[in-house]
Amino acid sequence: MKHLLSLEQLTQAEIEGLIHSAVDLKAKRKSCPQVLAGQTWALIFNKSSTRTRVSFEVGIRELGGSPMFLSGSEMQLGRGEPVKDTARVLGRMVDGAIIRTFAQKDVDDFASFSGIPTINALTDDEHPCQILADLQTMQERLGGWKNKRVCFLGDGDCNVARSWIWASARLGFELVVGAPAPFQPADSFMERVPKGTVSVESDAMRAVSGCDVVYTDVWVSMGKEAESADRLRVLSPYQINTQLMAAANPGAVVMHCLPAYRGKEITDEVMEAHAGIIFEEAENRLHAQKAVMTELVR
Ligand code: CP
Repeated sequence: MKHLLSLEQLTQAEIEGLIHSAVDLKAKRKSCPQVLAGQTWALIFNKSSTRTRVSFEVGIRELGGSPMFLSGSEMQLGRGEPVKDTARVLGRMVDGAIIRTFAQKDVDDFASFSGIPTINALTDDEHPCQILADLQTMQERLGGWKNKRVCFLGDGDCNVARSWIWASARLGFELVVGAPAPFQPADSFMERVPKGTVSVESDAMRAVSGCDVVYTDVWVSMGKEAESADRLRVLSPYQINTQLMAAANPGAVVMHCLPAYRGKEITDEVMEAHAGIIFEEAENRLHAQKAVMTELVR
């Protein structure tokens, strides 16, 4: 693995290897190999973040390296310097880059032109680090994903949903995307996904039926604020609440990549009932990303 740009580009063995390493790094958190000793890794963020920024900054330090946070708006990038020029400059100065931005092409171009390990920390297309942490959480809490049925509810065409779709396709577990027609995965996207593990269901109750994991994400993703009123109206039947959870398997868990908007995609009651696994999922961002960086400098 040279970069982590998307889950689409990873094999089953690569994903499983990362999860195994993440669990191991979590167990020896304070004595992990100093694989980034003497290195500086840049975090270039064009969007807000709490979990991703903090987990990468802490993770780089725990691996012996130094993080350098760069707000895209304060860089010359924000005044129109091309990504490929920025990449060629940073590639001569830092050892790795973690990028949160809008267009997937910008992260792909940065990786090509910089020549240094590059990690997608969320684009409009994918959020691979989040789903690696989610899979680690399934491994720890449910013993893995084999024979498990996962439901993603809400905006089924968002970056988190797309990364879940690739995880299902690569690992072979069943994923049901529960979403209304305007928010179902685009046909042009689904044409790239191998058939057999992913289904799309417009009825929320039917979508969660028989599921072991019910997952949701914010309904108004960053950059979609202008669509806020429409999204909240159309997606309201997909709220995870006690009534909906009664249709899932007994003992089903709720997962959420956070931040959570109580009263919108999830009720406070359900959120608090599943807070243990949801905040473990958040912590696992740290361990999963340490596994990714360790793999990229191997
Ligand atoms: N889940 C996630 O990526 O959180 P942040 O936006 O806070 O980084």
